[in-house]
Amino acid sequence: MKSAPTLSEIIELDRQDALAPSRAAFQLPEKIIYLDGNSLGALPLSARQRAQQVVEREWGKDLISSWNQHDWINLPVKVGEKIARLLGAAPGQTICCDSTSVNLFKLLSCALHLQQGRSVVLTQIDNFPADLYIAQGLGAHCGPENCVVKAVAAAELEQHLDSSVAVLLLTHVNYKSAAMHAMQRLTARAHQHGILVLWDLSHSAGAVPLQLDAWQVDFAVGCTYKYLNGGPGAPAFIYAATRHHGSIRQPLTGWMGHTDPFEFAAEYVPFDGVRQFLCGTPAIISMSVLDAALDVFDAVDMHAVRRKSVALTELFLTLAKDTAALPLVSPRASAQRGSHLAFSHPQAYAICQALVAQGVICDFRAPDILRLGFAPLYVRYRDVWDSVATLAAILASKSYESAEFTVRHQVT
Ligand SMILES: Cc1ncc(COP(=O)(O)O)c(C=O)c1O
Repeated sequence: MKSAPTLSEIIELDRQDALAPSRAAFQLPEKIIYLDGNSLGALPLSARQRAQQVVEREWGKDLISSWNQHDWINLPVKVGEKIARLLGAAPGQTICCDSTSVNLFKLLSCALHLQQGRSVVLTQIDNFPADLYIAQGLGAHCGPENCVVKAVAAAELEQHLDSSVAVLLLTHVNYKSAAMHAMQRLTARAHQHGILVLWDLSHSAGAVPLQLDAWQVDFAVGCTYKYLNGGPGAPAFIYAATRHHGSIRQPLTGWMGHTDPFEFAAEYVPFDGVRQFLCGTPAIISMSVLDAALDVFDAVDMHAVRRKSVALTELFLTLAKDTAALPLVSPRASAQRGSHLAFSHPQAYAICQALVAQGVICDFRAPDILRLGFAPLYVRYRDVWDSVATLAAILASKSYESAEFTVRHQVT
């Protein structure tokens, strides 16, 4: 087994880290170790500046002319293309709009519509609940002859791939355990049975290199407020492979998806392309902030991001090997997990609160999971060293048993 590095070796790792300069692109409070970028990414300075510009200049001074003058009308496409580069998607297939949940509804109903004669949506029992709820809601809306949700354990997914399945709906990196599916292999296996595949990339985009085109993915959705640092409630994205554009018809036929919204025609005619996934007026302020936030990825190689992500999580596990009271829930093999780590403990909530009180920001997922996220653009190796030391001290002293740490907040 590899011996744990010393503090001076860790300082050297930061010194040699090619991604270290990207930390300066973020506003990070002093004396805080931020291990929650998997939930809400930190604020890029470019985003802060753009927020001011879009509110004061574009909205405040240029008012409605900004739709043309500042090209607000094409922002969903522009931002979508910036995200596309991180997804391994050629232009014309990715657009920024609405929330992940709403986008999932649109794509799932498109995919089911393409699969006449099949009604099963195969998914994972511990998929992110919103994804299950959206599929269940669509089933209740369309009736069991058109949509039936079948949720099975991850290990059983492959044995359920057969000609009754219309759509395989999976989250690439599990929100709780960080377990990562082999996207290319599962997509290919599903296609062998004529199944369309819809991936939720919320915990992968900006953390894991993706090749949606090369892997023949049909559809994908994802959040932008985690590793893409778009800010709280930032608009999500949709990817729909070009080969499906001619035959899909999304259900939320709002005017922004019309081929010519400013014709104000009485009949809905969808835009011929990914723009048809727009529904209502885009949230320009938050989309502008996201647009600027994505600039931090401009010169960044996603493989370098992944290498650092693996190095950070591996370092945490190496240094934390004495914290036996906290079993790892994430896969031990780095190739099988995303950029966060999950540990279980009956008092995980209190441990999380005790860490937060000491400046190590992380989160809790019911019923017993402590989650620590490692955003490679701004987390340092030294942060890993310090957070492991804080965690070890909290576990050794049992300071988490203090009553103040058991008060449940509304958001965990
Ligand atoms: C994997 C996954 N899917 C979907 C969602 C829901 O996203 P939204 O609330 O933006 O619709 C989340 C939110 O955290 C998520 O983690």
